[in-house]
Formats: sequence, C-alpha cells, structure tokens
Amino acid sequence: DLPRQVRLVDVGPRDGLQNESQPIAVADKVRLVDDLTDAGLRYIEVGSFVSPRWVPQMAGSAEVFAAIARRPGVTYAALTPNLKGFEAALAAGVREVAVFAAASEGFSQLNINCSIADSLARFAPLMEAAKAEGIRVRGYVSCVLGCPYDGEIAPEQVAWVARELHQMGCYEVSLGDTIGTGTAGSTRRLIETVARDIPREQLAGHFHDTYGQALANIHASLLEGISVFDSSVAGLGGCPYAKGATGNVATEDVLYLLEGMGIETGVSMPKLVAAGQRISQVLGRENGSRVARALLAR
Ligand code: HMG
Ligand code: MG
Repeated sequence: DLPRQVRLVDVGPRDGLQNESQPIAVADKVRLVDDLTDAGLRYIEVGSFVSPRWVPQMAGSAEVFAAIARRPGVTYAALTPNLKGFEAALAAGVREVAVFAAASEGFSQLNINCSIADSLARFAPLMEAAKAEGIRVRGYVSCVLGCPYDGEIAPEQVAWVARELHQMGCYEVSLGDTIGTGTAGSTRRLIETVARDIPREQLAGHFHDTYGQALANIHASLLEGISVFDSSVAGLGGCPYAKGATGNVATEDVLYLLEGMGIETGVSMPKLVAAGQRISQVLGRENGSRVARALLAR
C-alpha cells in the first residue's frame, strides 16, 4: 500500500550549500531555513559540525542555528561526524543530529578519512552522549547504489552498515544514492534487502538526480513502503567527494510527484518555489528544480 503521508526532509541548507565554492553569508542561510519553515517543511537539516578544513562552507553552522526562527513541531538537525562535532552542536542548541557512514570503503576514506568499521566505532561515544542528553540521532549510509571509487555496491553490504547504525540507536536510517546511479530496479532490490533487518517505517530515501532517476527511484521506494525522503530545495548541491554528482533531487519536484499521487506532506508549493528561487538568486544560478522553472515560467 502507498503511504498516505510522507515526511520530506529538506537537506538543502546542509547537503546543498556544503558544496558551494562561493562564500554564503550566514544571513542568507538563515533566510533559507526560515523560508523552508514557512513553506511547511517539518524537518530541515540546517548545517553540520565537521572540520572547517574539510568543508569550509559549513563553518558558520553555530551562528545559523543561533539565528533561525524555530517553529514548534519542526526538527532542525545537524550533521555530526564525531563526539567533537556532537558537543559543538549541543552547545549551539541543536536537539537532533545525524551521523553518516559509507557503504563503500573507498568513499569512507575520502569523505571522513577512515574505514567503515572505524567510522562506526567513532559513533559509539557520540551515541552514548546523545542518549544521555535525550537527543535523537538519524543515520545516513552513503553510496548505497554505487560508489565513485569502488563501483557497484552489494545490497548486503549496505544492509550491514544500516543494521550497525540501527543497532547502535539511530531511530531512522537514510539510504543515500550519493552519485545517483540507482534505478527503480536496483532501488527495490536494495530496500528489500535492507528491510530484512530494519522496519520500513525506519528507513528513508536520499536520492541524487545525477542520472535523472531520482523521481523514479522515489516512486519505487513508495511502492516498497518508504515514507520519508530527503531532498533539497531548488536541487541545491552535490557532494564535494563525489565528482560530477549533481544535487539531491529537488524538493519541489518530489512535492509535485506526491501531490499528484494524493500523498500529504503539509508543504506549500508556492512558498517552497519562492524559497528555492530566492536562494538560487543569491547563488546567481538557475533554479535546479524543473517544477519550479515550469511554474515560474507560467
Ligand atoms: P581527520 O583529519 O581524519 O580527523 O578528519 P582528526 O581527528 O585527525 O582531526 C583533524 C582536525 O579536525 C583537528 O584539528 C580536529 O580537532 C578537527 P587540528 O588539531 O588539526 O586543528 N576536528 C573537527 N573540527 C570541527 N568539527 C569536528 C571535528 N572533528 C575533528 N567535528 C573528520 C576527520 C571526520 C573530522 C573530517 O574528515 C570531516 O570533518 N569530514 C567531514 C566530511 C563531510 O562533512 N562530508 C560531507 C557530508 S557526507 C554527505 O554529504 C553524504 C550524505 O549527504 C549522504 C549522501 O549524499 O548520500 C550524508
Ligand atoms: Mg546527499
């Protein structure tokens, strides 16, 4: 059965903006988050607490968290790679974090400078601290349908990493097709394998649109009973460690698909399109959402 409601997780302020080469003012990031709140998003990934030498664009995340207008019922999350990042997030008033591991060894080394097993071990003290503080932790697995360095990834390998994250206490595991090579077929096989260990209600889909397959993969995921999807307003972003990767699928495009299927999200299309158009103008680039472009051209 198709889900009646879907939770959209807008990762644009983090996954999108982390990949920008030009500096972005804190005020522009704050405006983006506030616009997304106004548009009705209930989950926004605002920034990350990672090494500024690795990802300079996220250096101002604490200032962003201090300035956003929080609406009750909306989750404002931060990506944290280790205890140091977690503590910085906590000090910035963050109440939900996400950890991330790769399904491929090659990507793990390039992205966080250690093996998959080491990265999982690094999360243990973070998970403990989060538990003590009553903070929920979301888990990401990247490269679930292909890796820029290691090529094809076996679904069983993804299932192992996802299971480890789930067992250490992640309440939800987001499966990331970081380079967008997945298809409806490989997506379904992946979910069937991962769902042997983790209930489908605790899985999310994180699709990048590099090969134009993201909406097909989301549709395939919906048919598999997945009801949480990560996306990025105006299709912002990419990944600094995955060459040629385009942004996450645009939130506007996912919303259009879901509206057409009668699935509720609570998000307003006109407000969302306005939010995406504003940040695209700040960045001086064409809006990456095809739905937004079509609606704005009418
Ligand atoms: P390292 O160099 O191996 O770590 O980096 P280290 O422990 O040796 O520390 C090096 C320096 O970083 C030290 O500073 C630490 O204090 C500092 P120094 O003594 O040299 O001055 N440091 C930190 N600073 C700020 N915040 C921290 C932190 N930790 C250490 N949390 C590390 C390891 C994990 C830190 C580094 O590799 C890193 O920050 N990587 C971040 C990579 C990243 O953010 N990638 C993008 C997110 S993943 C993604 O986008 C995929 C996803 O969207 C899913 C998908 O798309 O499929 C989630
Ligand atoms: Mg991503």
